Amino acid sequence: MLRVAVIGAGRIGKVHAAAVAAHPQARLVAVCDPIGTGAADLAAIYEAKAYAEAADLFADSDVDAVIIGSPTPLHAQQVLAAARAGKAVLVEKPVAGDVDEARALEAELATFEHPPVMVGFQRRYDPSIRRAKALADAGELGTIEQVTIVARDPGPPPAEYVAASGGLFKDMTIHDFDEARFFIGDIVEVSAFGQNVLPELAETGDFDAAMVLLRGAGGAVATITNNRRCVTGYDQRLEVHGSLGSAVMDNWRETTLSVNTRDASGVRQPYLDFFLERYAAAYSNELSAFIDAINSGTEVSPTVADGVAALLVAQAAEESARTGRTVRLDIGGTPDYGG
Ligand SMILES: NC(=O)c1ccc[n+]([C@@H]2O[C@H](COP(=O)([O-])OP(=O)(O)OC[C@H]3O[C@@H](n4cnc5c(N)ncnc54)[C@H](O)[C@@H]3O)[C@@H](O)[C@H]2O)c1
Repeated sequence: MLRVAVIGAGRIGKVHAAAVAAHPQARLVAVCDPIGTGAADLAAIYEAKAYAEAADLFADSDVDAVIIGSPTPLHAQQVLAAARAGKAVLVEKPVAGDVDEARALEAELATFEHPPVMVGFQRRYDPSIRRAKALADAGELGTIEQVTIVARDPGPPPAEYVAASGGLFKDMTIHDFDEARFFIGDIVEVSAFGQNVLPELAETGDFDAAMVLLRGAGGAVATITNNRRCVTGYDQRLEVHGSLGSAVMDNWRETTLSVNTRDASGVRQPYLDFFLERYAAAYSNELSAFIDAINSGTEVSPTVADGVAALLVAQAAEESARTGRTVRLDIGGTPDYGG
């Protein structure tokens, strides 16, 4: 039984606490949050210990692994402290506040022996996305040529969250960058348009919607459409198009029912809303993969290197959106333009 602690008792911390409590091979033993009664309230639900200081939690020998769901600027330092204390780590995205910090973390982690450090790009563990990947890897779709990702949130987070998030590309699109990398590998060219459609976020100086074009080293291209507001709900779609076929992921509803009446046809329920509901299976599968890697001593996936690579694409997207230029990344070699 893996004894797990959750750091950060906010939106995602609660999701992970519930996933741990429901997992047959894990037990939630502690929660850490320095603000208000967050740690005590969440810990009380699961009869776990509450900590205000992460350092005290890392010193607790009853904790085998930590899931870090604190604000993004704290990720790198908490990952390092946890790894130094001998705890396995599942850290939420992004792995660090920026590329430099992420690279420094990666380099530091390479200097000592430590348990696995996994990055929480949970979409890699979503059943539909996983199946699309398995089909692509098996060659069933032929050569992957184009990947289309649509990811829109039902509504924006508070302006204070946005201000500390590192910006749209590092905070939200980072999931899509990792998803694109999952299918088309290393990204070598990035072209992005940022938009401001939400007056309530204007003062943050951040984009709240964007469209991004990515070219993979092998020549495949991905498009990403993001918006922090979508009145129709949490809009999560994917199309992987290859030379032999395509895999298409539609939005999930509570049931598959489609209702036809005199006035309308094909009426379905709203999308599952929000990430807790839509990706519930993914968070649980992600946790299982984390536990399996710890127990078997195998590599975790996604790795800190995947976290660094996604941040690199996010940084390039920010630069592209601010300058109006396409940004080339000198990883993964020369792009193959095909034809
Ligand atoms: N994978 C996903 O689907 C997903 C979804 C949401 C958020 N996230 C990521 O999770 C992180 C947290 O996001 P959120 O939406 O839960 O934010 P949130 O603001 O709801 O929660 C963050 C919590 O961390 C606590 N905190 C502040 N300082 C801390 C410290 N020093 N140590 C421990 N806890 C501290 C805050 O009090 C708060 O309760 C972000 O990095 C975000 O990118 C991932």
